[in-house]
Amino acid sequence: MKSIRKAVFPLAGHGTRFLPMTKSSPKEMLPIVDKPVVQCVLEEAVAAGINQIIMVTGRGKRAIEDHFDISYELEDVLRKKNKNEALEELRRITSLSEILYLRQKEALGLGHAVLCTKNVIGDEPFIVALGDEIMDGPETAMSQLRRAYEKIGGGPVIGVQRVPLSEVHQYGIIAGTEVAPGLYRVDRLIEKPSLEEAPSDLAIIGRYLLTPDIFPVLETQAPGKGGEIQLTDALNTLSQKRPLYAMEIVGDRFDTGDKLGFLKATVRFALKRPDLGPSFQAFLEDLVHHFPGVSPEAKSNERSEKRDYATR
Ligand code: G1P
Repeated sequence: MKSIRKAVFPLAGHGTRFLPMTKSSPKEMLPIVDKPVVQCVLEEAVAAGINQIIMVTGRGKRAIEDHFDISYELEDVLRKKNKNEALEELRRITSLSEILYLRQKEALGLGHAVLCTKNVIGDEPFIVALGDEIMDGPETAMSQLRRAYEKIGGGPVIGVQRVPLSEVHQYGIIAGTEVAPGLYRVDRLIEKPSLEEAPSDLAIIGRYLLTPDIFPVLETQAPGKGGEIQLTDALNTLSQKRPLYAMEIVGDRFDTGDKLGFLKATVRFALKRPDLGPSFQAFLEDLVHHFPGVSPEAKSNERSEKRDYATR
């Protein structure tokens, strides 16, 4: 069984759900307290034993490259001010992993972004991690996928989680048979189905462990939803040709490309920080008791959304 050493981060998306913030600044650079989201994803990969990251970028994503590069000027300033801790942290970030950058010239979809890495990946299994999704739990998603890969004797495994039925249209959804607790043999995948079309509530989250046989499929994959080459469609084709598995990932997932997801991640990760957590918690508790709260109108909207969902 080949070991997993490489990870692909598709980062060329425009971040339209987070405008105007993402007009000139990549969504992957949004801060989780003081660390860009993409750094959290990279640290997850490094902890899972990955030593080469292929970042598929696009126009307007230079800040990501600069973040992982050495900044001599800044280092000089920190040295002169004796800010050694900050200096060391900056050095640590630049040496976390080998990083290769590839430009996806046109936004032709997630499947196309993965296809761009074909020659760099070669004949090895690899991870695909979406650069704006982070997880919090006892074990990282990538490490859970790696375990599943070993359990099935090597082969593609994708990360899934259950989502409310009202959200299936936002995800790739799988149909499969549970072969071991939390491990599914996938029969079929469908990208962003309607509620009626959705075969289950098991949604693809932004973590995949793939094998190189996905590339020839992607090469001939016709555009799907939104006119884009969808990774989900290619995986569906692949599942008809060879065993494909899905692993239900344990942990809380945060989609930081979404405003509410970003806010939740900020609160969760700030509370976990020893330097900020206690004061931040005190602030939040005080806020809950004294803040006048959201308007009655907003509250009634929320209630009616929940009612719609419950009566479906
Ligand atoms: C992508 C995938 C989708 C997956 C989702 C996870 O969609 O195409 O299958 O469920 O990521 O976040 P996107 O959110 O980029 O439109």
